[in-house]
Amino acid sequence: MIILHKATIVTGEKEAVGSIIIEEGRISDILYADADDYDFRVGKYIEDADAEVWQLEGKHVMAGGIDAHVHFREPGLTHKADMATESRAAVSGGVTTVFDMPNTNPPTITAGALKEKMQLAEGRSVAKTGFHIGATNSNADSICNLIVNGDEGCGVKAEDIPGVKVFMGSSTGNMLVDQKNSLERLFQISEKPILVHCEDEQTIKENLAAAQEKYGDDIPFAEHEHIRSRRACIKSSIKALEMAMKHGTKLVLCHISTKEEIEMVRAAKTNNPDITAETSCNYLWFSNEDYERAGSLVKCNPSIKTAEDRQALRNALAEGLIDTIGSDHAPHLLSEKEGIYTKAPSGLPSIQQSLPVLVTIAREEGIPLTRITSAFSEKASEIYGLKRGKIRRGYDADLVIFDMNKEFIVRAEDQQSKCGWTPYEGVRLKGYIEAVLIDGKAVIRDGKLTV
Ligand code: DOR
Ligand code: ZN
Ligand code: ZN
Repeated sequence: MIILHKATIVTGEKEAVGSIIIEEGRISDILYADADDYDFRVGKYIEDADAEVWQLEGKHVMAGGIDAHVHFREPGLTHKADMATESRAAVSGGVTTVFDMPNTNPPTITAGALKEKMQLAEGRSVAKTGFHIGATNSNADSICNLIVNGDEGCGVKAEDIPGVKVFMGSSTGNMLVDQKNSLERLFQISEKPILVHCEDEQTIKENLAAAQEKYGDDIPFAEHEHIRSRRACIKSSIKALEMAMKHGTKLVLCHISTKEEIEMVRAAKTNNPDITAETSCNYLWFSNEDYERAGSLVKCNPSIKTAEDRQALRNALAEGLIDTIGSDHAPHLLSEKEGIYTKAPSGLPSIQQSLPVLVTIAREEGIPLTRITSAFSEKASEIYGLKRGKIRRGYDADLVIFDMNKEFIVRAEDQQSKCGWTPYEGVRLKGYIEAVLIDGKAVIRDGKLTV
């Protein structure tokens, strides 16, 4: 038995001092210090011969993050990253569950490819790991069958699959779904969430052609914001939201990056409350002012927009219009990032900064930690129907313990990701992570990986 004693416990409802009792990998009791019988009840647990008491006065405890949007690159792209390295980066950022995206090589578009990934994760991934199935223009029928019945031959059960990923704009991996009948069929799926990358292909093509006309091969990275423009996002997101309203889809609008999309989500949710919005820390932290300094290192899709968009996203996080945070952790090698605009791949490694970036923003903006934990894990726990991601009796003891007052500077040499760099290098963050538990076992203790 472990007793997380006198920590500040953060749930979606409240932030209050108390003790969490962990037995057999699960949360078995939660005692709050303001209860009349607190000393008596916690005393009983402490007397237990098996009790290991962690004294946590002044430290915060939250459910470990559920990050439903990562690109861990395995199989096929393991020169950039793999499940062993990236899952270590994940837990170092307070994330205990990850769902990987299908743009690997081969892409995860069949039960067989999904099973291969499950086997690759076995015994190597430090975090709890699941795999989204990827849609194409031609696999909608087989996906619909797979997510209901599983695939006995391949050994994949329906419940092994967290969600269906649909690229409504192409990004790394060429997985564009652009045929109307395929999209209509996919949006009729009611059993699982549909996660959508929205950027209008035609708009991007036209913008790129115009930039090439103007700059030739050497397009400045600051143009990324105008090539992968806000209009491309808005146009595609409108389409996704309209279809989700028509069919009642459990839509996860991934990585929203503009203030307009926030307002669109607000309106759409009144019609279909199963619509949820995700953003990533990258859009909450960086702005177009960073292109000049960091160039390709902040090139991701959708592009990072203006400081005004960033502020609107922070406000939406505070308000609860942003439901979930997905890191969109997308490692590429620095050597790959060194190319010119059209060659440098899009995507940023970011998962190791997840919780510290969020709590730093929370302090800057006066956002209560109750909102942070909701977006970091609780809402995803509900969307994906998991018995973890909340500090509740009976839930898995996947927890993160951090020190709000301890600041640290992000350094490249501390990064666990195989790619070995971070766009947050040199940034001072709050919320130093002291310990991370998965099923009640420490994977981080005293700020260091134990695995
Ligand atoms: O910037 C991005 N990188 N956006 C995506 O949609 C894919 C990702 C990747 O896999 O590199
Ligand atoms: Zn995406
Ligand atoms: Zn992504």
